[in-house]
Amino acid sequence: MARRKKLYEGKAKILYEGPKSDTLVQYFKDDATAFNAQKKATLDGKGVLNNRISEFVMLRLAEIGIPTHFIERLNMREQLIKKVEIIPLEVICRNVAAGTMSKRLGIEEGETLPRSIVEFCLKRDDLGDPLIAEEHIHAFGWASQAEVDEIIGMTLRINDYLQGMFAGIGIRLIDFKIEFGRYPVADGHQILLADEISPDSCRLWDRETNKKLDKDRFRRDLGDVTEAYQEVASRLGIIKENPATPPNLSVISNND
Ligand code: CDP
Repeated sequence: MARRKKLYEGKAKILYEGPKSDTLVQYFKDDATAFNAQKKATLDGKGVLNNRISEFVMLRLAEIGIPTHFIERLNMREQLIKKVEIIPLEVICRNVAAGTMSKRLGIEEGETLPRSIVEFCLKRDDLGDPLIAEEHIHAFGWASQAEVDEIIGMTLRINDYLQGMFAGIGIRLIDFKIEFGRYPVADGHQILLADEISPDSCRLWDRETNKKLDKDRFRRDLGDVTEAYQEVASRLGIIKENPATPPNLSVISNND
């Protein structure tokens, strides 16, 4: 692939200039960070798996009418995406108590919530991505009321679809974080699902054993992090390791 201008380097991904002015190339690194980058490691193959898993999820969501930034996967670690203006919010959707919600509200990890809950955090690493209320979003002009309503609606649809998709492969979707961006169109802009959806940004537990198949394996030193991501990819039919995988779902190829 030709040398591209690096526009931004984050904790797990790099963004390069795309072939057209309204596109970018999103590169998935093997780097893992947790606790606001206080804990760091390189996990061989994580980037390749997240590129595949995020591609798979974005394509499935596009099929049910969720507009996303994903255009196409270019190779093992890169995907072509639409260039958006990222809305500075981390949108978290939870079905089961875990992580900061358990700590903050004293709800035991693993307790099913009375209903799915959407939370907003401000996307500010230097402040540790603080939890905010919708009031803050409106008062500080981070997004309009109409945008927030659309984001909540899309998040709940994404949650419904992904809960079913993961249930079908024996996985409980505990929670996830997504981001949205504004993409210019003729009469204004469209809100697109952006960033990634992968075991880095979701909590995924095996339905039978409650085994964690996500980044908590890294955060909590549980070991076998890449193996867990591989298990998710294999159950989704993205990689061929699992002989039970239906062949029509296998999308891996050896030539990239
Ligand atoms: O993960 P942590 O305990 O720090 O925070 P959380 O609010 O419990 O995270 C909820 C979900 O969002 C988990 O699936 C996290 O992996 C994900 N998340 C993320 O991907 N990026 C962040 N900056 C914060 C949370």
